[in-house]
Amino acid sequence: MLVGRSNVGKSSLINALTRQTIARTSAAPGKTRLANVYRIERAGTALHLIDLPGYGYASGHKADGGRQPEFGEIARVVFERTPAALLLVDSRHPGLASDRAAWQWLSGTAARAAVVATKIDKLARGERIRAMRELQSVFDAPVVPVSAGTGEGMEELWKLIVSLSKPRRTNPNA
Ligand code: GTP
Ligand code: MG
Repeated sequence: MLVGRSNVGKSSLINALTRQTIARTSAAPGKTRLANVYRIERAGTALHLIDLPGYGYASGHKADGGRQPEFGEIARVVFERTPAALLLVDSRHPGLASDRAAWQWLSGTAARAAVVATKIDKLARGERIRAMRELQSVFDAPVVPVSAGTGEGMEELWKLIVSLSKPRRTNPNA
């Protein structure tokens, strides 16, 4: 499951991972309004990638205000299945309050979770090093830098996704 603020690049990342244009993207936030589930086969393993609506955007409200009404409802249904989660964070904005809150929530709710830094192509080398350091300290977790634009980090991210998707012995539904 891909979780993150509106416009962080969730849908773009699904397209980059699959090298297909299957998820709809937009320069304006609030594009994805439903949970879209993609069944992917990779190296003989089938898994589902779930593209969720973003949080932190509600049309008609201030951009950093409450969640869209759909988000809570959709998230509840998806979370009942206890999927593994990737929190996508814009590498240009490490440590936003809404992302910290999401990480706290995910850590307690998802089966397993990891952090992905998106749009890394937008940062120059020095900024990138600083942002990665800050992200790692804020989330106290390994962070994978990616760019859906250039394809950077896709191999590493696939490895992470496959490892997060492995069924746990303790979960009979996995
Ligand atoms: P919602 O569905 O509204 O929650 O947004 P989203 O998280 O699915 O974002 P989406 O994939 O639609 O991308 C938002 C914007 O960011 C689009 O204009 C993308 O082209 C741009 N974008 C996404 N990934 C990258 C990236 O790696 N690099 C750059 N430069 N732009 C990106
Ligand atoms: Mg989207």
